[in-house]
Amino acid sequence: MKKVLFADGCIRGDISRTARLARAFFSALGGYETERVDLESLPILPLGRELLEKRNGLTERGEYGDPLFDLAKQFAAADLIVIAAPFWDMGIPAKLKTYFEHVSVSGVAFDGETCKGKCRAERMIYLTTRGLDIPDGDEQEQATPYLKALCRFFGIGAFDSVSAFGLDVISEEECERRLSLAEKEAKELAESLEV
Ligand SMILES: Cc1cc2nc3c(=O)[nH]c(=O)nc-3n(C[C@H](O)[C@H](O)[C@H](O)COP(=O)(O)O)c2cc1C
Repeated sequence: MKKVLFADGCIRGDISRTARLARAFFSALGGYETERVDLESLPILPLGRELLEKRNGLTERGEYGDPLFDLAKQFAAADLIVIAAPFWDMGIPAKLKTYFEHVSVSGVAFDGETCKGKCRAERMIYLTTRGLDIPDGDEQEQATPYLKALCRFFGIGAFDSVSAFGLDVISEEECERRLSLAEKEAKELAESLEV
Protein backbone atom coordinates (compact mmCIF):
# COMPACT_ATOMS: atom_id res chain seq x y z
CA MET A 1 0.00 0.00 0.00
CA LYS A 2 1.18 3.54 -0.73
CA LYS A 3 2.32 5.66 2.18
CA VAL A 4 1.35 9.20 3.04
CA LEU A 5 3.60 11.06 5.43
CA PHE A 6 1.54 13.51 7.48
CA ALA A 7 3.71 16.15 9.12
CA ASP A 8 1.24 17.51 11.66
CA GLY A 9 2.34 20.96 12.74
CA CYS A 10 -0.99 21.90 14.31
CA ILE A 11 0.63 22.96 17.55
CA ARG A 12 -2.69 23.81 19.26
CA GLY A 13 -3.97 20.27 18.88
CA ASP A 14 -7.72 19.63 18.89
CA ILE A 15 -8.71 23.31 18.91
CA SER A 16 -6.55 24.07 15.87
CA ARG A 17 -8.47 25.35 12.86
CA THR A 18 -5.78 24.00 10.55
CA ALA A 19 -6.35 20.57 12.09
CA ARG A 20 -9.94 20.78 10.83
CA LEU A 21 -8.63 21.00 7.26
CA ALA A 22 -6.36 18.02 7.92
CA ARG A 23 -9.24 15.96 9.33
CA ALA A 24 -11.35 16.80 6.27
CA PHE A 25 -8.52 15.86 3.93
CA PHE A 26 -7.80 12.50 5.58
CA SER A 27 -11.50 11.64 5.90
CA ALA A 28 -11.66 11.64 2.09
CA LEU A 29 -8.30 10.10 1.28
CA GLY A 30 -8.42 6.46 0.26
CA GLY A 31 -5.78 3.90 -0.59
CA TYR A 32 -2.95 5.24 1.54
CA GLU A 33 -1.42 4.07 4.78
CA THR A 34 -0.85 7.18 6.94
CA GLU A 35 2.30 7.78 8.96
CA ARG A 36 1.69 10.80 11.19
CA VAL A 37 4.54 12.79 12.67
CA ASP A 38 3.27 14.94 15.54
CA LEU A 39 5.62 17.90 15.48
CA GLU A 40 4.42 19.23 18.84
CA SER A 41 5.65 16.15 20.68
CA LEU A 42 8.65 15.41 18.46
CA PRO A 43 11.85 15.82 20.54
CA ILE A 44 13.96 17.60 17.92
CA LEU A 45 16.15 20.67 18.24
CA PRO A 46 17.35 23.05 15.54
CA LEU A 47 20.71 22.04 14.11
CA GLY A 48 23.39 23.54 16.31
CA ARG A 49 27.13 23.19 15.81
CA GLU A 50 27.51 19.91 17.69
CA LEU A 51 24.63 18.18 15.93
CA LEU A 52 25.69 19.52 12.54
CA GLU A 53 29.25 18.26 13.01
CA LYS A 54 27.96 14.85 14.11
CA ARG A 55 25.68 14.65 11.10
CA ASN A 56 28.36 15.80 8.65
CA GLY A 57 30.75 13.20 10.02
CA LEU A 58 28.20 10.43 9.58
CA THR A 59 27.18 11.42 6.04
CA GLU A 60 30.81 11.83 4.96
CA ARG A 61 31.51 8.29 6.15
CA GLY A 62 28.28 7.03 4.57
CA GLU A 63 26.98 5.86 7.96
CA TYR A 64 23.24 6.25 7.63
CA GLY A 65 22.22 3.76 10.34
CA ASP A 66 22.10 6.41 13.10
CA PRO A 67 18.59 7.30 14.40
CA LEU A 68 19.47 10.90 13.49
CA PHE A 69 18.44 9.96 9.94
CA ASP A 70 15.11 8.27 10.74
CA LEU A 71 12.96 11.32 9.95
CA ALA A 72 14.76 11.93 6.65
CA LYS A 73 14.43 8.29 5.58
CA GLN A 74 10.74 8.23 6.46
CA PHE A 75 10.13 11.44 4.50
CA ALA A 76 12.16 10.32 1.48
CA ALA A 77 10.32 6.98 1.28
CA ALA A 78 6.76 8.36 1.37
CA ASP A 79 4.58 8.40 -1.74
CA LEU A 80 2.72 11.54 -0.70
CA ILE A 81 3.61 14.34 1.73
CA VAL A 82 0.93 16.28 3.61
CA ILE A 83 1.93 19.26 5.74
CA ALA A 84 -0.62 20.89 8.04
CA ALA A 85 0.53 23.94 9.96
CA PRO A 86 -0.86 27.32 11.04
CA PHE A 87 0.62 30.47 9.51
CA TRP A 88 3.00 32.00 12.03
CA ASP A 89 5.08 35.15 11.70
CA MET A 90 4.45 35.29 7.96
CA GLY A 91 5.72 31.77 7.45
CA ILE A 92 5.81 28.35 9.05
CA PRO A 93 6.16 27.60 12.79
CA ALA A 94 9.77 27.07 13.90
CA LYS A 95 9.03 23.46 14.84
CA LEU A 96 8.19 22.71 11.22
CA LYS A 97 11.37 24.45 10.05
CA THR A 98 13.31 22.36 12.55
CA TYR A 99 11.63 19.24 11.18
CA PHE A 100 12.83 20.15 7.69
CA GLU A 101 16.36 20.64 9.02
CA HIS A 102 16.21 17.02 10.13
CA VAL A 103 14.66 15.83 6.87
CA SER A 104 17.01 17.69 4.55
CA VAL A 105 19.90 15.25 4.71
CA SER A 106 22.50 14.84 1.97
CA GLY A 107 22.38 11.31 0.63
CA VAL A 108 18.78 10.79 1.80
CA ALA A 109 16.52 13.68 0.74
CA PHE A 110 18.87 14.93 -1.96
CA ASP A 111 22.08 13.83 -3.65
CA GLY A 112 25.01 15.73 -2.16
CA GLU A 113 27.01 15.66 -5.41
CA THR A 114 24.40 16.47 -8.02
CA CYS A 115 22.06 18.36 -5.64
CA LYS A 116 19.18 16.47 -7.27
CA GLY A 117 16.24 15.39 -5.12
CA LYS A 118 16.02 11.79 -3.92
CA CYS A 119 12.51 11.83 -2.44
CA ARG A 120 10.02 9.35 -3.77
CA ALA A 121 6.88 11.50 -3.36
CA GLU A 122 5.45 13.08 -6.47
CA ARG A 123 3.32 15.59 -4.57
CA MET A 124 3.29 17.75 -1.47
CA ILE A 125 0.06 19.11 -0.05
CA TYR A 126 0.06 22.08 2.33
CA LEU A 127 -2.94 22.81 4.55
CA THR A 128 -2.99 26.06 6.50
CA THR A 129 -5.02 28.82 8.09
CA ARG A 130 -4.01 32.46 8.51
CA GLY A 131 -5.26 35.00 11.01
CA LEU A 132 -4.75 38.15 8.97
CA ASP A 133 -6.11 39.22 5.61
CA ILE A 134 -3.30 37.57 3.65
CA PRO A 135 -4.50 35.59 0.62
CA ASP A 136 -2.49 33.01 -1.33
CA GLY A 137 0.19 34.70 -3.43
CA ASP A 138 0.42 37.81 -1.21
CA GLU A 139 4.02 38.94 -0.73
CA GLN A 140 3.58 38.63 3.04
CA GLU A 141 2.80 34.94 2.59
CA GLN A 142 6.23 33.35 2.86
CA ALA A 143 5.26 29.79 3.78
CA THR A 144 4.19 28.65 0.30
CA PRO A 145 7.28 29.95 -1.56
CA TYR A 146 9.49 28.21 1.02
CA LEU A 147 7.65 24.89 0.77
CA LYS A 148 7.67 25.05 -3.04
CA ALA A 149 11.42 25.64 -3.00
CA LEU A 150 11.89 22.61 -0.76
CA CYS A 151 9.77 20.51 -3.11
CA ARG A 152 11.98 21.42 -6.03
CA PHE A 153 15.12 20.65 -4.00
CA PHE A 154 13.78 17.27 -2.83
CA GLY A 155 12.58 16.28 -6.31
CA ILE A 156 8.87 16.48 -5.48
CA GLY A 157 7.21 17.62 -8.70
CA ALA A 158 3.75 18.78 -7.68
CA PHE A 159 2.52 21.10 -4.96
CA ASP A 160 -1.04 21.89 -3.87
CA SER A 161 -2.33 23.96 -1.02
CA VAL A 162 -5.62 24.61 0.71
CA SER A 163 -5.96 27.67 2.91
CA ALA A 164 -8.40 29.84 4.77
CA PHE A 165 -7.30 33.36 5.66
CA GLY A 166 -8.41 36.40 7.64
CA LEU A 167 -9.80 34.16 10.38
CA ASP A 168 -8.75 36.42 13.27
CA VAL A 169 -10.19 39.59 11.78
CA ILE A 170 -13.69 38.52 10.71
CA SER A 171 -16.93 37.53 12.46
CA GLU A 172 -17.38 34.03 13.87
CA GLU A 173 -19.97 33.30 11.17
CA GLU A 174 -17.65 34.37 8.35
CA CYS A 175 -14.80 32.41 9.93
CA GLU A 176 -16.98 29.28 9.99
CA ARG A 177 -18.03 29.87 6.36
CA ARG A 178 -14.41 30.16 5.19
CA LEU A 179 -13.33 27.12 7.18
CA SER A 180 -16.20 25.05 5.78
CA LEU A 181 -15.26 26.06 2.24
CA ALA A 182 -11.63 25.11 2.87
CA GLU A 183 -12.70 21.76 4.39
CA LYS A 184 -14.69 21.06 1.22
CA GLU A 185 -11.72 21.98 -0.94
CA ALA A 186 -9.45 19.71 1.14
CA LYS A 187 -11.87 16.80 0.73
CA GLU A 188 -12.15 17.35 -3.02
CA LEU A 189 -8.37 17.45 -3.32
CA ALA A 190 -8.06 14.16 -1.43
CA GLU A 191 -10.74 12.55 -3.61
CA SER A 192 -8.96 13.71 -6.77
CA LEU A 193 -5.71 11.93 -5.93
CA GLU A 194 -4.97 8.81 -7.91
CA VAL A 195 -3.59 5.96 -5.88
C1 LIG B 1 2.55 32.55 17.37
C2 LIG B 1 1.55 32.97 16.36
C3 LIG B 1 1.97 33.71 15.25
C4 LIG B 1 1.05 34.11 14.28
N1 LIG B 1 1.50 34.84 13.21
C5 LIG B 1 0.61 35.19 12.24
C6 LIG B 1 1.05 35.91 11.10
O1 LIG B 1 2.22 36.26 10.95
N2 LIG B 1 0.13 36.23 10.15
C7 LIG B 1 -1.17 35.86 10.25
O2 LIG B 1 -1.94 36.11 9.32
N3 LIG B 1 -1.62 35.19 11.33
C8 LIG B 1 -0.77 34.84 12.33
N4 LIG B 1 -1.20 34.16 13.42
C9 LIG B 1 -2.62 33.76 13.49
C10 LIG B 1 -2.84 32.33 13.00
O3 LIG B 1 -2.30 32.13 11.71
C11 LIG B 1 -4.33 31.98 12.95
O4 LIG B 1 -4.97 32.25 14.16
C12 LIG B 1 -4.50 30.53 12.54
O5 LIG B 1 -5.83 30.28 12.15
C13 LIG B 1 -4.13 29.60 13.71
O6 LIG B 1 -4.22 28.29 13.28
P1 LIG B 1 -4.52 27.06 14.27
O7 LIG B 1 -5.93 27.27 14.80
O8 LIG B 1 -4.41 25.88 13.40
O9 LIG B 1 -3.51 27.11 15.37
C14 LIG B 1 -0.33 33.76 14.42
C15 LIG B 1 -0.73 33.02 15.53
C16 LIG B 1 0.18 32.64 16.50
C17 LIG B 1 -0.28 31.85 17.70
